[in-house]
Amino acid sequence: MQLSLMKIDTEKEIASLAHLASEIWHEYFITIISNEQIDYMIEKFQSVPALTDQMTNQDYEYYFMTIQDNPVGYLGVKPEEGKLFLSKFYIQQEHRGKGYASQAMELLVDICRNRNLAAIWLTVNRHNTSTIAVYEKKGFKTVRTQAADIGNGFVMDDYVMEKEI
Ligand SMILES: CC(C)(COP(=O)(O)OP(=O)(O)OC[C@H]1O[C@@H](n2cnc3c(N)ncnc32)[C@H](O)[C@@H]1OP(=O)(O)O)[C@@H](O)C(=O)NCCC(=O)NCCS
Repeated sequence: MQLSLMKIDTEKEIASLAHLASEIWHEYFITIISNEQIDYMIEKFQSVPALTDQMTNQDYEYYFMTIQDNPVGYLGVKPEEGKLFLSKFYIQQEHRGKGYASQAMELLVDICRNRNLAAIWLTVNRHNTSTIAVYEKKGFKTVRTQAADIGNGFVMDDYVMEKEI
C-alpha cells in the first residue's frame, strides 16, 4: 500500500492530531516512562495549544501519514540550519511493521532534496531500543547523548541521531 503525507493545517486537523498523539504516546511509552511524565509531555508538546504554537510561531510542519486517505500515524519536522529536524515520528500500533516508516523516510529524503537540506536528525529515548534499531537500519548514526530538563522534575534521556542525505 502506498503511503502519502498530508499536511496538517486546520483547527479540526490539529484536534485530531492531538488525539492521535495522545493515543499513541500512552500506548507506546508506558513501558519506558511513567504515566505522569507521558501526560506532562503530551500537554507540553502535543496538545492543541502546543501544536498550534509550534506550527504558527516555530516553523514546525506536521503531517498525517495516510494510507488511502486514512491516517496511520504522524510526523513533525522543522527545517533548520541546512538540516531537517525530525521532531516526531509515530505510527499506530496496528500499522507498525508494514514498511510504512520506510516509505515515510523516503518521502522525508525527497523533502530534503527539494529544499537542499543535507541531513535528517532526531532525538530518541535511550531505552527505546527497537526504534533505535529501526533508525540504524534506515541509515541514522548516533552522534551524541543528551539529557534535556523538561521541567516538573522530568528529564528526557536521549540519543541524538543523524542521517546524511
Ligand atoms: C518507529 C516506528 C515509526 C517504525 O515504524 P514501522 O512501521 O514499525 O517500521 P517499518 O515497518 O517501516 O520498518 C522500517 C525498517 O526498519 C526495519 N525494522 C523494523 N523493526 C526492526 C528492529 N526491531 N530491528 C531492526 N530493524 C527493524 C524494517 O525491516 C524496515 O527496514 P527496510 O524497509 O529497510 O527493510 C514505529 O515502530 C513506531 O511508531 N514506534 C513507536 C513510537 C516511536 O518510538 N516513535 C519514534 C519516537 S523517536
